[in-house]
Amino acid sequence: MITRFLATIGLGGNDPEHSWLSQNGLLEARRASAGGFRYTFLLRGEPAFATFWNDFLTVMAKAKKANSRKPGAAARLTRELEELHRIGIALSETRDVDRLLTMILQKAREITCADAGSLYLVEHDAASSNGSGEARRLRFRLTQNDSVQFPFSEHTMPLTESSMAGYCAMHGEVIELADAYRIPKSRPFQFNSAFDKQVGYHTRSMLTLPMKNGKGEVLGVLQLINCKRNANARLTSEAAVKRHVHAFSEGAVRLGLSLASQAAVAYENSRLYRDIENLFDGFVNAAVAAIEQRDPTTSGHSQRVCDLTVALAEAVDREPRGPYGDVRFSREQMKELRYAALLHDFGKVGVREEVLVKAKKLYPLQFSRLFDRFDYIRRDVEARIAQQKVDALLTMSKKDAEARLRALDDEAQRRLGELSGYCDLIAKANEPTILPASEFDILTEIALKTYHDPRGTERPYLTSEEVRFLSIPRGSLDPDERRQIENHVVNSFNFLKQIPWTREFRGIPEIARAHHEKLNGKGYPNGLTAEEIPIQAKMMTICDIYDALSASDRPYKRAVPMDRAIDILKLCVRDEEIDSELFRVFLEAHVYRLAGKTS
Ligand SMILES: [Fe+2]
Ligand SMILES: [Fe+2]
Repeated sequence: MITRFLATIGLGGNDPEHSWLSQNGLLEARRASAGGFRYTFLLRGEPAFATFWNDFLTVMAKAKKANSRKPGAAARLTRELEELHRIGIALSETRDVDRLLTMILQKAREITCADAGSLYLVEHDAASSNGSGEARRLRFRLTQNDSVQFPFSEHTMPLTESSMAGYCAMHGEVIELADAYRIPKSRPFQFNSAFDKQVGYHTRSMLTLPMKNGKGEVLGVLQLINCKRNANARLTSEAAVKRHVHAFSEGAVRLGLSLASQAAVAYENSRLYRDIENLFDGFVNAAVAAIEQRDPTTSGHSQRVCDLTVALAEAVDREPRGPYGDVRFSREQMKELRYAALLHDFGKVGVREEVLVKAKKLYPLQFSRLFDRFDYIRRDVEARIAQQKVDALLTMSKKDAEARLRALDDEAQRRLGELSGYCDLIAKANEPTILPASEFDILTEIALKTYHDPRGTERPYLTSEEVRFLSIPRGSLDPDERRQIENHVVNSFNFLKQIPWTREFRGIPEIARAHHEKLNGKGYPNGLTAEEIPIQAKMMTICDIYDALSASDRPYKRAVPMDRAIDILKLCVRDEEIDSELFRVFLEAHVYRLAGKTS
């Protein structure tokens, strides 16, 4: 491999286009107009970071020169190049900022054989958070030491020239010291010996390197301490320091600087990635808040379903056996599931609010208008009876009038009693419970009755729409309203499909769309069968039903106790609506217990 690598960098004389690097997609060689080749290094198919590769090319040129004089030096430089290359790839593959920073410091120490080291990050204050203004702080982020153990707490310090890290960050200058205690008086910075005194350490050689990005901005500072002859030596005494420590060599400075540049770009990328993730988390949370503002009575549902579903996925992930024994969810898949669960009901924003929050069969305004009408009918009956009484008193003999008045009182009592019975029945029918068939007949009977409004127009006691709503056999929604509610799944899908998800999250729209599907094919919107429903959606369905049953935050629906909610889910398993194996894990891992703990 080394031979091929040497050939690639021009030390072997083979055509670079057929070299190992280009064969592995790491190098693009184009013939330059002036003759020879122009190289572009690629990382994951993209042109790699300029600063690092400029350093790479510089070292490469030195290797070529050294090769003509000392073949041994060339081999060493080639090894260093390979090491740098390997580290570069490892750094570019790490997206987690904490892990990345630890790796940067570790690798910088390894490559320069430093006993200890610290990593500082440059921070901007809020006013200059875009990086355009003056940096104000230096964050002491990380420290490593092979020889002594000590407590460390991250902290910030003002960015000034008086510290080596501060000076390096402000001027982008490398500071190489053979002895930290002998800094020339002309330099504005001093060595802070407090750490040495505190933990009994002996700092001697020091190398402070700026972490510059492609634009030459200093993002952080790497400080390497005590360059050792033997990497395994422990510097537990001054004598050991004298024996093992020497100044950082020119080669170590060069390698350290190259690594610091790679590190800066990798850090910038991972920070950008984290910012995008944070931005997206913020967007998802805002979307969830928007759903729950539409229907405050279901507040917390999205978050609870998310927490339950992720907990169920973690439990499934741990399962060693059974139909899902081989199922494992990566960090990205977990995140995909989390987003899908948080946004599963987002489509509710497209459902009319009165339908979304409809608690009874009639809308509140419809119900009060109906009762106002019955109040009017009652008054009308009383007025008509009173009028007939007056007529009787004016036209009949006293004896006949008395009989007539008694008859009219009886009639009034009967009719008012009848009206009051109708009102009771309507109020009962308005509840979202199942109404006996006999009472449906009475509703039809009431609807056939009429009265005269103040303008003398004959009107029915109940309109056809009121009868239709009050005759809903179960629940509070008629078929059209139910369709509107069910359409939230399609709305969720259409909304989520428009988001340009990254490759890892492209399954989100499909997962969210399937959360009301049933294994027996009787779900909606597509009547998918067991094989067609993604496992993520199957898990979410169980958690969605459980939360809908057990949530105590809906005014029109009392919370079902935990045991009862589980019994209902068992019926869903019996009817082949939900997955029996996933439900078993849901029970055995006590996932349901989480419901009461999340808000
Ligand atoms: Fe839903
Ligand atoms: Fe839901």
